[in-house]
Amino acid sequence: MHYNNILVEENEAIATVTIDRPNKLNALNRETIQELHDAFKALESKKEVKVIILTGSGEKAFVAGADISEFADFSEKEGGKLAAKGQKLLFDFVENLSKPVVAAVNGFALGGGLELAMACHFRIASDNARMGLPEVSLGVIPGYGGTQRLPQLIGKGRAMELIMTAGMIDAGNALSYGLVNHVVSLENLLPFCEDLAGKIAKNSPVAISHAIKAVNTGFKNTDGYSAEIKAFGQCFGTADFKEGTTAFLNKRKAKFPGK
Ligand code: COA
Repeated sequence: MHYNNILVEENEAIATVTIDRPNKLNALNRETIQELHDAFKALESKKEVKVIILTGSGEKAFVAGADISEFADFSEKEGGKLAAKGQKLLFDFVENLSKPVVAAVNGFALGGGLELAMACHFRIASDNARMGLPEVSLGVIPGYGGTQRLPQLIGKGRAMELIMTAGMIDAGNALSYGLVNHVVSLENLLPFCEDLAGKIAKNSPVAISHAIKAVNTGFKNTDGYSAEIKAFGQCFGTADFKEGTTAFLNKRKAKFPGK
């Protein structure tokens, strides 16, 4: 299959999916989300593929978020739809894939980028990685599952702080929070993930798929995700959102009117 925004490589039991928009720090535009969905779906149906590694192209970013230029002029209704569609096509899809997906976080994982890494089954970071959910600095909230998965992974208080400050944590902090399982050098990131994937690939794929389902079932409370989609959409009707996204696209600091 030909893709415009991602690369897919298969090496025996291990497939590597690379988001390949380095000039836009691998930001997730609509087409990339659809291509990722198609690629994961195709890899899931290939018996020989046992583990998938997801990473970003270049040395700077895993994914710097959803593509702000695509949604800056959306209405409330379009905002809600954006979150609902993205969650279904990609974030929930990856989380519930029957094959393990390991995020190799090779730089910035912000907004939708961190949300994507969190939808993967676990995360390995390079030592230059920086993670955060900066959405409130744009006048919006995380809409791809971030308000749900971040507290699951690092606890409610830390998640609240990270979301409210729109701040970033470095790889060392992410490790101490349990957001990532290991931190390695950038150069060693993919070899390290491949080594782990090789260990996983030796085990029963059927048992692993059952384990994924069982672990995920313990965290299923779809009300939280629906509340997130509703609130995300509502943000698009605010003057703060218009100011936040316009300021980003014009490369200036936002001055929020607070309404
Ligand atoms: N959506 C759209 N474009 C994005 C983007 C995003 N989420 N993140 C980065 N880009 C683009 C920039 O607009 C820039 O494009 P240009 O060269 O055509 O102007 C390019 O990627 C490089 O980014 P730049 O901001 O110049 O790099 P930097 O090193 O100065 O800063 C970041 C890096 C990650 C701190 C900064 O890009 C950033 O804050 N990105 C947005 C993060 C965010 O808010 N994500 C949540 C979205 S909901």
